[in-house]
Amino acid sequence: RIQRRHIQCRRDIDFFAPNLIAIFESLVPADEEIAKQRQLINSLNKLISREWPHARLHLYGSCANSFGVSNSDIDVCLSIDDKELGKAEILLKLAEILEAGNLQNVQALTRARVPIVKMMDPETGLSCDICINNLLAVVNTKLLKDYAMIDPRLRQLAFIVKHWAKSRRVNETYQGTLSSYAYVIMCIHFLQNRRPAILPCLQAMEATYVVRVDNIDCAFFDDVDKLHAFGARNRESISRLLWAFFHYWAYQHDYTADVVSIRTGTLISKHSKDWTRRIGNDRHLICIEDPFETSHDLGRVVDKFTIKILREEFERAANILQYDSNPSVTLFEPYVP
Ligand code: CTP
Ligand code: MG
Repeated sequence: RIQRRHIQCRRDIDFFAPNLIAIFESLVPADEEIAKQRQLINSLNKLISREWPHARLHLYGSCANSFGVSNSDIDVCLSIDDKELGKAEILLKLAEILEAGNLQNVQALTRARVPIVKMMDPETGLSCDICINNLLAVVNTKLLKDYAMIDPRLRQLAFIVKHWAKSRRVNETYQGTLSSYAYVIMCIHFLQNRRPAILPCLQAMEATYVVRVDNIDCAFFDDVDKLHAFGARNRESISRLLWAFFHYWAYQHDYTADVVSIRTGTLISKHSKDWTRRIGNDRHLICIEDPFETSHDLGRVVDKFTIKILREEFERAANILQYDSNPSVTLFEPYVP
């Protein structure tokens, strides 16, 4: 049974906010790196349009959603409407085009769960993965990026949470822990639910951006310039928010009943989604609803062993933020098995 403990926050909670901001700033990529990524996409687009005049490349994932640390690989999606070729054939042909264009280490992984072509650009030194027609990822990338523009504390919180998750090795979906994408959604949900709220629920507002992708209607308010003062009534520091985030996941979240949903901006019940029992490989031990593919639980990779690991790490982080004399160091100490 879960105890809904309400713990008073330490009195000096705000004193390490500047350290956390410094960590955030050290992780943010420089403008030159962003420019290099755009340059690579432009040259790839030229190469590909010779063969496929209607195809287009889109950046998605951390290099485009503004939650990427420096030197991450870049995620690219090729949108192409070729009725003759299957996905595997498109990938093989794409690999040929890239090799002819002097890109290095070109590899087509046609049998992966998400089939991709991997390559490295010798000119910029950037590595990238190209997938085919994963347009929902392009749309959810825009949603995350739009949220990031509303209040600076979202990027700060998410960078620090991702950095913590990587240091503690709980950001490995193939090992049964959570994706970076899931952590960012958890941060958005958390800020939507502060009082006063720091983020609105863009999908619950009047839609100014509407697309239909893979038979899913994606609609949300994207005129975020109008929302830059949204969170101003809430003055909580980043250290207080980080403390509250980990306390929520360590001691307050009801893992047996609740689903995190940024689509609605609230918690919804596992019951209403029929996520109360294991179906196939989906165990629903920590439930995080994808904002558009609402039947997707981003926590479905978590199993009965890794849920324990995750919850122990949430508790460790919460306790460090509550009691440690130097939390901004201890929190990120690498996990040693
Ligand atoms: N994605 C998705 N559904 C998932 C996981 C990922 O749609 N279950 C898409 C999202 O568009 C996400 C992108 O794939 O932005 C990349 O996912 P991930 O690697 O988890 O996030 P990044 O932001 O790229 O993080 P990192 O910096 O760790 O690479
Ligand atoms: Mg990525």
